[in-house]
Amino acid sequence: MDRFRVSGGGPLAGEVAVVGAKNSALKLMAAALLAVGRTTLTKVPDIVDVAVMAELLRRLGCGVEHDPATGTVTIDVPSELGHRADYELVRAMRASISVLGPLTVRCGIADVAIPGGDAIGSRGLDLHADGLTRLGANVHVDHGYLVAQAPNGLVGAPISLDFPSVGATENVLMAAVLARGTTVIENAAREPEIVDLATMLVRMGAEIEGIGSSTMVITGVTALAPVEHEVVGDRIAAGTWIFAAALTRGDVTVRGFDPRHLGFVLDKLVDAGVVIDRQDDGVRVTCPRRPRAVDVMTLPYPGFPTDLQPFALVFDALAEGSAMVTENLFEARFHTASELARLGADVRVDGHHALLRGRERLSAAPVVGSDIRAAAALVLAGLAADGVTTVEGVKHVDRGYPSFDADLRGLGADVRRESVADGAF
Ligand code: EPU
Repeated sequence: MDRFRVSGGGPLAGEVAVVGAKNSALKLMAAALLAVGRTTLTKVPDIVDVAVMAELLRRLGCGVEHDPATGTVTIDVPSELGHRADYELVRAMRASISVLGPLTVRCGIADVAIPGGDAIGSRGLDLHADGLTRLGANVHVDHGYLVAQAPNGLVGAPISLDFPSVGATENVLMAAVLARGTTVIENAAREPEIVDLATMLVRMGAEIEGIGSSTMVITGVTALAPVEHEVVGDRIAAGTWIFAAALTRGDVTVRGFDPRHLGFVLDKLVDAGVVIDRQDDGVRVTCPRRPRAVDVMTLPYPGFPTDLQPFALVFDALAEGSAMVTENLFEARFHTASELARLGADVRVDGHHALLRGRERLSAAPVVGSDIRAAAALVLAGLAADGVTTVEGVKHVDRGYPSFDADLRGLGADVRRESVADGAF
C-alpha cells in the first residue's frame, strides 16, 4: 500500500494547469455508446477511473484506445453491444452506472451491478430507476444487478426529479435522446459537466432545449452520429489547487478551467480575504495574510460543491475565527474532520454540520483519506502542519487527479509517495 509523505512547509508558488474533468469525461465515454462508429474525446485526464471506464466499454464490445500523452481517447462502438456491467468494475467505480441509460435505449436491456456501500454515504439509485421507469422501462433488481428492460424502446415522458441528482439527470438525458417523443426533465442537475454532456449530445444530433437550466426538454431522434469533443476543464481539480494556494498563503496561477464554474467558491474565498484575479482560462490566487474563517454550505450547482467541502474544512481549520461547514449532499462525508482532529484541528461534528475554530498551524500525524477528495484535502492539510504527515489513500487520489503529487512538487511542495513497508513505523 502506498501513502503520501508530506513535509509541512511554506507558501506554494507557481503555475499549474488542469485538464478535462473526471466527472465529465466518464459520462462522455458512456455517451459514446449512443452512436455507432468512432467517438474521439480530447483533454481526457490520465486517471484510474478513465481506465476502468475504458475497460467497461471494451467488455461491452467497444474498441477503446487511450493515449495519455495527448489526452485523447477513441471509442469505436459496434452496432451490436453487450449489455452487462459486472460488479468487479462497478465496485471499482460507481460512475459505471452511467452506462445504464445508454444501454437501455441502445440494446433494449441493461444489467448493471449495484455499486453497494460507498465511503461518502449510501448514494441510492432510486432516481435513476424511477427516471427510466417513467420512460417505459421495466426496472428491477435481480441477483445484485439493476436490470432495465425496454424491448420495444423507450418513450418520452415528463420526469420531475425529487432531487437534482447529477447521475440520474445524466442517465435520463442519455436515454431520452433516443426515446420516441418528448421528455421534460424538471429539477434537473445543471453542473457544468452536465452542460458538457448535453453539448456533446447536441453535436451528435440530439435535440435538447434548456441546457444549463433546471428544465431540459428533449425531443428523441432515431440515431446519433459520433463526434470529436473536448472535455470541459476540471473545476474540482482547479478548486483543489486554489485551496492549496490559499491555505499555504501562497501565490498560484491555476489554468485550464472556466472561473465562472467556481463562482460561488471564489466569492467565498474573497470574503475570507483571499485575493483572486479571475482570468479567461483560470485564476491567480494570492493570500498575503491569514484568511478569516467562512461558513460553507454544500448545495447542487451553482452552490458550493460537495467535492470541495473537505478542502473548506482544512481551510477553516487554519483560518482566523470560527465557522460552520454544512454538508447537504452526502450523509457521511465528514471523514476528513476526524482525521483533521488528529492533526490538531479544533473541529466538532454534529450531524451534517462541522464546527471549526481556526488554529494558526496544524501538527503532523499519520492520517487516512477515505475517498478522492478527502485524501487530497489531507495532503494539503499536511502542507500546513509542522513536521511530516503521512496520508494513506494514494489509490483514491489516483482515481481523480492525473498528476497530484507531481503538480504539488511543481509548486514547491515537499510531497512524495512511499510504500507503507518503507515507512517510519
Ligand atoms: N441520490 C439518491 N438517489 C439517486 C441518486 C442520488 O438518493 O438515485 C442521492 C445520493 O445518495 C447523494 C445525492 O443524491 O446523497 C447526490 O447524488 P448525485 O446523484 O447528485 O451524485 P453522483 O452522480 O453519484 C456525482 C459526482 C460526485 C459528486 C456528486 C455531487 C461523478 C462520477 N460523481 O456523483 O463526485 O460529489 O455528483 O456533485 O460524477 C468525486 O468526484 O469525488 C465525486 C464523489
